[in-house]
This record gives sequence, structure tokens and C-alpha cells, in this order.
Amino acid sequence: MSPSMRWVRLPTAEAVAVRAARFIATACRRAVSRRGTFHWVLAGGTTPERCYRLLRDCPLPWHKTHCWFGDERLLPGGHPERNETMARRALLDHVPIPDAHIHAIPYADDAGQAAMHYARMLAERCTLPFDLVMLGMGEDGHTASLFPGQLEPVAARLTIPVTKAPKPPAQRVSMTSHLLNQHRHCLILVTGEQKTHALRRIQHGAPLPAARITRAWWLIDREAWPSGYKSDGWASARRL
Ligand code: 6PG
Repeated sequence: MSPSMRWVRLPTAEAVAVRAARFIATACRRAVSRRGTFHWVLAGGTTPERCYRLLRDCPLPWHKTHCWFGDERLLPGGHPERNETMARRALLDHVPIPDAHIHAIPYADDAGQAAMHYARMLAERCTLPFDLVMLGMGEDGHTASLFPGQLEPVAARLTIPVTKAPKPPAQRVSMTSHLLNQHRHCLILVTGEQKTHALRRIQHGAPLPAARITRAWWLIDREAWPSGYKSDGWASARRL
């Protein structure tokens, strides 16, 4: 396990969501008071949904918040399986974020075009580093839509098209790890026993995509990391 990974174990998935929401609220207030805006990369999948719902009732400087997406499934706008749709339903439709600040990954005929379009949007409108990058991790150790065995470009590209994702749908767009690593803070949310195997592999140094993310706080529940497992060197939740 790389020393730049800070793993924190929390009792339940609910505790992970509560901690993550608190962290995001603090990062948002701080970024807006220091720099005037909060650039936040949202995670897809199911794990972040509860945290998004908790944030609905937070009186944050939403009008100064910009939302980006770490990855998206190549599906038309409004499709129920899009990560953007989940984030809108759980949070964005309920808070006063200007629509122009929701920088969704566009739909296109193919993933290559959509990735190119998003890279252009990022280059034109985004201020790096991101104030906060939020991610999940799949059972195979993927994060965003960076899957094991898939080659990432060596050059400093911002996005990549994915055409054969093992998690449906096969066509997706993802930020590269090069871009995801340009953050002031990063949270990776991992809950549920189906994630234990990938976590153990990462702890033993396996080069899975999620392990390419540096300086992240990993919020892990007890189902994902049962009590009997070695957890020396983990960070305390108090440091979060
Ligand atoms: C997606 C994601 C993906 C997700 C992980 C974890 O499009 O599905 O962005 O990277 O975060 O697969 O998903 P769960 O939270 O559903 O386990």
C-alpha cells in the first residue's frame, strides 16, 4: 500500500456517507472563502448517492460550486443509468447550483467524440487543480471508468474513451488518472463486502486503477474491511 493512501475505517456505509458529506461541506466552504469557487468532481455508481442526499440540506455556497464528472456512461442526457442523472436526482436538482455550473459529460455517437468534447470543455472552463475529486471503486479495482488491463495514454491527456468496459454499458468516457490526480483533496468511497478482495490486492501493492490515485482519503466501511483483517498504519477518522 502506497504511503500516499490514507485509509480510514468507519463502522457502516451510513457513517461513510456522513463523513464524506461533512468533508465535502468543509472543502466547499473553504474553497469559496479562499478562491471564490469550488470545483468538485463527482463520482458515479451507487455508493455516493446517500452522501449526495445528505448534502441537499446543507446551506453551502452552491451558486459558487462547479460540478464535473469523473466518468460517464455513453447514454443520452436524462437516461436513468447516467451518472449525471443519479447526481441530479440525489442532489443537483435540489440545490441552487446554476445550470451552467453543471459540466456534464456530453453524449455523442461514439465515446471518442464525447471524450474529445469533454476534454475541450475542461480545457476551456476548468481551473486546476480541482478542489475536490470524489470517486468510488468497483469490485475489480476500477475507478471512474479506468478498468484493469486497459491502457492509459502516457501523454498528459485529460479524458479517454472506453469502448469495452466490463461493467455495462461498454461505452464510456473517463477522466484519466493524470487529470484525477490534479486535486487539492480526494475522497474514495468504498463500501460492501464485494470490495474486500480488491482492497486486499491494493494493500499488497497490486497496480489496480484505483491505486493510481494519489493523496486520497479512502473511506471504507466494515463490510469492505472486516475487523479481523490487518489494518496497521491506517489513518484515524479524526484526521479527516
Ligand atoms: C460507474 C462509476 C464507477 C463506480 C464504481 C463503484 O460509472 O459505475 O463511475 O467507477 O464508481 O464501479 O460503483 P458502486 O458505487 O455502484 O459500487
